[in-house]
Amino acid sequence: MRNLGRSLTGYSQEPRELFLTGLPAQINPIDGGRLGRENCSMTDAWKSYPGAPIEGAVVCPLEDAVEGEATCVEVDGFPLLILRLGDKVTAFVNACPHQYLPLNHKSDRLLTADGAKIRCSNHSAGFDAVTGEGVEGLGLGACLDPAPVSVPQGQIVIG
Ligand code: FES
Repeated sequence: MRNLGRSLTGYSQEPRELFLTGLPAQINPIDGGRLGRENCSMTDAWKSYPGAPIEGAVVCPLEDAVEGEATCVEVDGFPLLILRLGDKVTAFVNACPHQYLPLNHKSDRLLTADGAKIRCSNHSAGFDAVTGEGVEGLGLGACLDPAPVSVPQGQIVIG
């Protein structure tokens, strides 16, 4: 996985505080941070995060998203995880629902060897790489928030 732009760990705020400030009302960390939301079909949840990019915002050139790897980017300071699997490009808010730490806070190796799961580098919560649904450990009962992306003219953009 490659990190583009400023490292998440370079925030002046603690990464967790970044997300705990102004969290969407329907997302309530409970029990020390574990996400209370269990409905992974809330596809617009990403819009409720502080600093969420507007539709049409450029994420990065397609060539910066390496096929078969997870790429962490920031769009005007907003952290996204980009996955390019074959011709399909998907994105999630780079915030683990366990404690709202960046998924790559401790390591940039997030995708499992088979490319099927994203595994948080903090406490190993596992999420389906296609849907973001929690499938292992602390990810069970929670989900990553997908952000819609498209690829017009070789650029990955929001929307
Ligand atoms: S922050 Fe704990 S598993 Fe991701």
